[in-house]
Amino acid sequence: MRRKIVAGNWKMNGSKDLVQQLVGVICDHAGSLDAGAEVVIIPPAPYIPLVQQRADGKLAIGVQNVSQWQSGAYTGEVSAEMARDLGCWYVLVGHSERRQLFGESDEVVARKIGRVLESGLTAVLCVGETLDQRDAGEAEQVVAAQIQKGLASVTGEQWSKVVVAYEPVWAIGTGKTATADDAQAMHAAIRKVLEGMNAPAEEISVLYGGSVKADNAAALFSEPDIDGGLIGGASLKADEFISICRAFPAGA
Ligand code: PGA
Repeated sequence: MRRKIVAGNWKMNGSKDLVQQLVGVICDHAGSLDAGAEVVIIPPAPYIPLVQQRADGKLAIGVQNVSQWQSGAYTGEVSAEMARDLGCWYVLVGHSERRQLFGESDEVVARKIGRVLESGLTAVLCVGETLDQRDAGEAEQVVAAQIQKGLASVTGEQWSKVVVAYEPVWAIGTGKTATADDAQAMHAAIRKVLEGMNAPAEEISVLYGGSVKADNAAALFSEPDIDGGLIGGASLKADEFISICRAFPAGA
């Protein structure tokens, strides 16, 4: 059975004070969040130990990026092994901001996926098309290629440590969300691509990201192939994030 997941990607936002406040409020509500959903906090790397301390085992923790290399003379890089050592479970790989602003190619993304899986962590591969690509009718093709290249070397048991996050680039931080129907169509297409790679497609969680808010999460999360969300801006507001964590349909 695939997992329901709500992951809050704080991006380059936060402070020690924010960790205390925000993680504190989320933890106070931890008992009343959806029982079946895993709640993940993905803060900037330096705050990981603080989030962990504050969360006290009630929330899972992730890191926003890791190096394509294992260890050594790579100033400024953080390895997957270090993330594991700090108690992270999840690693975002290939977020569109990394691809666009830091020039991460599918090849780099694939190497990072390799490092994450070697370390026994769960990789959240982020994929998504730009508005031009969608308007040109290429969205499914672009996303399929990102998945096929990014996950090219994944085999056997490793698939149980793979999550895919579909994040249309035009929906990230813009207030524009894909309609639940459009998102569902892409998620179903993603599962077909995974099937074509001999992956256990029905067991892999596929999250939606891009301007998810308290008022659109329920519609998205009730779609059969949407297993939760990767939340940016709204994950920095306790009440919004908590509502999103409660947005799964009853009994799901
Ligand atoms: P957003 O970001 O919710 O602010 O659109 C999502 C993401 O980039 O993961």
